[in-house]
Amino acid sequence: MDNVNKIALVTGASAGIGEAYSQLLAKDGCSLVVVARSADKLASLAKTLEQQYKIKVFVCVQDLAEPNAAANIYNFTQQNNLAVDLLINNAGFGDVGNFLDHSMEEHSAMLRAMLGAIVELTHFYLPSMLGKKHGGIINVSSVVGLLGLSLRSQVTRALYRPIKCFVIAFTEQLALAYKDTGVHFQCLCPGLTISEFHKRSGQAGLRDKTPKFLWLSSEEVATRSYFALRKNRKVIVVTGFINKIGIFIHRLVNLFSI
Ligand SMILES: NC(=O)c1ccc[n+]([C@@H]2O[C@H](COP(=O)([O-])OP(=O)(O)OC[C@H]3O[C@@H](n4cnc5c(N)ncnc54)[C@H](OP(=O)(O)O)[C@@H]3O)[C@@H](O)[C@H]2O)c1
Repeated sequence: MDNVNKIALVTGASAGIGEAYSQLLAKDGCSLVVVARSADKLASLAKTLEQQYKIKVFVCVQDLAEPNAAANIYNFTQQNNLAVDLLINNAGFGDVGNFLDHSMEEHSAMLRAMLGAIVELTHFYLPSMLGKKHGGIINVSSVVGLLGLSLRSQVTRALYRPIKCFVIAFTEQLALAYKDTGVHFQCLCPGLTISEFHKRSGQAGLRDKTPKFLWLSSEEVATRSYFALRKNRKVIVVTGFINKIGIFIHRLVNLFSI
């Protein structure tokens, strides 16, 4: 895919993997719509990328947990005449605690931001991609979505893993339904990635407590995902050799325990 004159929309572009995707795409000549809540971070990213790569960056400040978030983003792109070629549903955060430790308002906000927004944005942007017979959608899940409940963690999470399982199933379903249409689908399943994620979701010290080789940088994760999409070889992309081995062993053990 030649990215000159192409437009990518990246949610969660103000930090971590989303910011790395934005850097990578801008370097490749793609104009961007960057979405997150932190207006200052998005504005500074847009300024840097526009100066460095001579592309256009449109800043769309939006909390994805708001009920009309996807419609607001779609209206923003319509008003600016932006036909999105690549949609990257990346924004996300972790929850800490058991199911009843959170209010229903907190659960609903997480479901809207990390599940509803992905489905709605896909519903808004897929028709025009199909019409052009060209486009891509990357949904960011996690290796935890591929691992079973036996996964031990120092932090209990209520909805994070179920949401990530949904994102995997949703992307696989789309890839099957719209095979050979010119639109490419990918579900990225990163393992431990250096970003703001763990600090924000109650695991600030995790990096010091785990072996360094388990971690990849956000740039490495975004690069592997982007190149896999360009080759269009796989729907599920797992980053990190160790994670691939872990999933293989996990599946083997499950197979023999049925
Ligand atoms: N880091 C890891 O180890 C890891 C592993 C597996 C999967 N992942 C997944 O990778 C994705 C990116 O995470 P990351 O590691 O890059 O984390 P990060 O550094 O914390 O970045 C998260 C991004 O999502 C945005 N965001 C969060 N809540 C939002 C909301 N309600 N509305 C709009 N934007 C929101 C944040 O921007 P604002 O705060 O400015 O809104 C930020 O740009 C997530 O889906 C995460 O689940 C991460």
